[in-house]
Amino acid sequence: MKDRVNRVILIGTGAVGCSYAYSLINQGIAEELVLIDVNEFRAEGEVMDLNHGLPFAPSAMKIWKGSYQDCKDADLIVITAGLAQKPGETRLDLINKNTTVFKEIVQSVMKNQFDGIFLVATNPVDIMTYVTWQESGLPKERVIGSGTTLDTARLRYMLGDYFEIDPRNIHAYIIGEHGDTELPVWSHTTIGVEKLDSFLERDTRYDKAQLEAIFEDVRDAAYDIIERKGATFYGIGMSLVRITKAIFQNENSILPVSVFLEGQYGQKDIYIGVPAVINRNGIKQIIEINLSSDEKQKFDHSVEVLRSIMKPILK
Ligand code: LAC
Repeated sequence: MKDRVNRVILIGTGAVGCSYAYSLINQGIAEELVLIDVNEFRAEGEVMDLNHGLPFAPSAMKIWKGSYQDCKDADLIVITAGLAQKPGETRLDLINKNTTVFKEIVQSVMKNQFDGIFLVATNPVDIMTYVTWQESGLPKERVIGSGTTLDTARLRYMLGDYFEIDPRNIHAYIIGEHGDTELPVWSHTTIGVEKLDSFLERDTRYDKAQLEAIFEDVRDAAYDIIERKGATFYGIGMSLVRITKAIFQNENSILPVSVFLEGQYGQKDIYIGVPAVINRNGIKQIIEINLSSDEKQKFDHSVEVLRSIMKPILK
């Protein structure tokens, strides 16, 4: 990637996209932010509104309503465009509508010689990331989905609340589909420096059965939020900024993003959420956790559900 200012192109300026933009500006992670949306008039309003906050931002930024020509010099393209879940809808229900939207978007981007990293958030995110990779022709390491980054944050928050421990000291992961078949990796969860089982043996105030209830709250969180406020956007927006920071600051951080498997976990030719090392060049390494037999069975089921849904839309 070029050694110059970090330019992010945001395609989709709905609630998720603008939550990402707002969080990105306030964390001072990029120097240029370009907004693209089919509703140009609304995108113009979002740009104006965001620019008016810049005097309060931690660092200088240029924000403008752009076009696909701006993709040529972009480092990162974040796609949040598409239809979002409605109450009672699953993420997988969105597949046909959003696949059509994505193919047009990615073709428009690649016509302008984009040579950076795609970060996909639109649901069903694992499948939309696969479609983006297929349509773009970019190396798989440079096509990333938000995966289970938000689900993992939800798990850490809820475990932290239960154990009265800062979530940043809860090392727990959700892996699999960003959706109903996701699963917690209890076998590799640590609370501070203690393995989960040791922690529970030592501190008998806590009950392992409660952890399954917490996982169910994580898995169903989007439904619970959508039922109350109609959509989710702050959590995913901040998750996307976390991934952006790992890229732009060349962190080599481990985040559970949607990556392309080529035999890891005994699976291939699928995009799905597992921990991966992320830096300036995208995915540096996929972390293959030694799952318990129960976790492996649930992971394989998650892969099969994604495969079955993907079949009709694959080239
Ligand atoms: C959620 C959306 C981003 O989990 O799928 O809130």
